[in-house]
Amino acid sequence: MRILRVVLCFVLLVGVVAAQPPSPTAWANDPQVEAKIDALLKQMTLDEKVGQLITYSQGAATGPGTGRSNYKEMVAQGKLGSIFNLTGADQTNEMQKIAVEKSRLHIPLLFGLDVIHGFRTEFPVPLGMSATWDPALVEQAARVAAKEASHAGVRWTYSPMVDIARDARWGRIVEGAGEDPYLGSAMAAAYVRGYQGAQLGGPESIASCTKHFVGYGAAEGGRDYNTAEIPVRLLRQVYLPPFQATVDAGGATFMSAFEALNEVPASASAMTLTQVLRKEWGFKGFVVSDWDSIGELIPQGVAADHRVASAKAFAAGVDMDMESNAYGPHLAELVKAGVVPESVVDESVRRVLRVKIALGLFEHPYADGKGSGAIAPEDAELARKAAEESFVLLKNDGGLLPLKANGKTVALIGPLADDAGQMLGSWGAKGDAKDVVTLRTALTRQVEAAQGHVIYAKGTDILTMSDKGFSDAVVAAKQSDIVVLTLGEDAVWMTGEAGSRANLDLPGNQQTLLEAVAATGKPIVLLVFSGRPLVLNWAAQHVPAIVEVWFPGVQAGPAMANVLLGTSSPGGRLTTSFPRAVGQEPLYYNHFSTGRPADGADLSRPPKTSGEKYLSRYVDVPNSALYPFGYGLTYSTVTYSATSVSSSAASAKDLNAGTAKLTVTAELKNTGGRATDEVVQLYIRQTGTSIVRPVRELKGFRRVTLAPGASQKVEFTLGRDELKFWNLDMKDVVEPAQLTVWVAPDSTSGKPAQVSIGQ
Ligand code: NOJ
Repeated sequence: MRILRVVLCFVLLVGVVAAQPPSPTAWANDPQVEAKIDALLKQMTLDEKVGQLITYSQGAATGPGTGRSNYKEMVAQGKLGSIFNLTGADQTNEMQKIAVEKSRLHIPLLFGLDVIHGFRTEFPVPLGMSATWDPALVEQAARVAAKEASHAGVRWTYSPMVDIARDARWGRIVEGAGEDPYLGSAMAAAYVRGYQGAQLGGPESIASCTKHFVGYGAAEGGRDYNTAEIPVRLLRQVYLPPFQATVDAGGATFMSAFEALNEVPASASAMTLTQVLRKEWGFKGFVVSDWDSIGELIPQGVAADHRVASAKAFAAGVDMDMESNAYGPHLAELVKAGVVPESVVDESVRRVLRVKIALGLFEHPYADGKGSGAIAPEDAELARKAAEESFVLLKNDGGLLPLKANGKTVALIGPLADDAGQMLGSWGAKGDAKDVVTLRTALTRQVEAAQGHVIYAKGTDILTMSDKGFSDAVVAAKQSDIVVLTLGEDAVWMTGEAGSRANLDLPGNQQTLLEAVAATGKPIVLLVFSGRPLVLNWAAQHVPAIVEVWFPGVQAGPAMANVLLGTSSPGGRLTTSFPRAVGQEPLYYNHFSTGRPADGADLSRPPKTSGEKYLSRYVDVPNSALYPFGYGLTYSTVTYSATSVSSSAASAKDLNAGTAKLTVTAELKNTGGRATDEVVQLYIRQTGTSIVRPVRELKGFRRVTLAPGASQKVEFTLGRDELKFWNLDMKDVVEPAQLTVWVAPDSTSGKPAQVSIGQ
């Protein structure tokens, strides 16, 4: 009997262990993999080792380029271990066959690509994806991207971009999750889970590449590639967390950044690449440079030539050279000259091989090209859902939206109503404009189905100053009952890499078109297409309804039509502050309090007293954002109860030890007449601390769906992870403090609760 029981327990235990999902970092700690690497390293020549530490682009250039094209020869000789921008099963297989069959050690190639918000099924741009506040959806979208990319031979994506961006002038703000490290970390981990799947070795898994390590988003003046100065505490507190979140999620690779961070080029920074990433966080994957960022150490002034640049980048911790043509010609010679120890080269090769083995490339080097003909219907469906979730309703006076279009004439005006290519946003990967359904197509279909009628007038181009199309637009508006105006940025030229702007208004003559159409007096719904916050003051004053739609992807049209007509409700929230003037940038909600806060200062008249004058403020614009972080309306109304915390006192010691936690709750009620999604946000502030803390910080969020009249209690936990910060002694701990907690619909509202955190 006893034996039986023991056997039963053992069987149960084995069952439980077997049922555990594999750990996301399992690939990094597999003795069999390491043994295979040892065996390979023993056979590799120095040149073959260096070959594993290089990646070159095929075709499309987003930088200076190496001028090399003899890739086949290099691959055959084992002198090139990775190629990017080459896609398609036939193309990648042809090259892979050379690596696998002709090269001496048969080490497969790794094919990379910027799969940023989809491979063929393009989803909203990442800033839009972040506005969904729905990491599960982001994970699903990344899964679709991984599936499509892997079948086309691409097993490595240069995503997620997790740079925190506090300056809307920076074009690459579109590629990330906005200004907040908590939300940014949640999104960053979701992308990694989606790309890498349950196991990196799964046939439809691709390796993620977290970029750009680190500080790239703090480019001075928002000008791309520019220098960044980030004090070390701010770096730890704001810029590093999303990167660490991807290491914890098992992210396989990292990309070093272009800029000089605190006077040290990010691609030559041992402090970040080795100390933080490898020693502190235990990262076991490899680091690739950004495009030519090793070569750029020369103009940055820390290297005289490519040889020195190679030595510096390599010593700092950049394992793989992307397009600098530096490691190829110089690394082996640096080893022979005794500048670089071969053992360090071996370590880098080990990291690269580890990822290649983990991906299963040795067993399955070829792609099957499955599904390359068209977007799968269920993926299109997900893209539509994602787009709908990403839209942020900024204004809706008089309940103009959803439109009551039955039997009505709708004038659809503007350069973005029927431009399929623009909907793909920046970094469209293999997205095809032919797959895009534009708003013109979708809205016409839906309005006509409701016995209405759509008149379309382009009005102007995105960037032109010609007003040739204005009169048609005004005539269309006059003939209509409602106007839908589609205005915004040029996705390719003004957003993404090298897309920085010093002005944040509607480009070209679109503002003039807006004013001309508004002058007709017709009710206007303005759809703003942008990869960043724009200055929308005029529209905010004169247009009754505004929706930020970002660049929504292949299902742009159906998603927008559904939201305009109320088949679905907008529930997205801003993840980046919309300024009132460019001069406010950098603008972010989680700033520090000054000694002279200006909340509520009256700007309508000159200050009457010195108390009113000497405040931290502008004399011509309020400090606040026009539309703040976390903000977004819905078609319903949701009320929040007071914030309730499980205890009004806690001990820092217990919180640090993990033996205490606070539970925060609030009750929501959908008091409007429609089902709605509500993004519930948890914010904190700590005062009485050893250093100044932000006026608010996001520490939890949840997107919930509420039926009309429904109530829901939402619960959050505040423990060590949420309450700790890098204090005066540079220790990452919970300090005694007065804690204010809000459960709120955005970063500026909510009813606070207080907790005293003692020793
Ligand atoms: C340069 C960009 O900064 C980076 O994000 C991208 O992944 C590489 N080019 C490769 O295209």
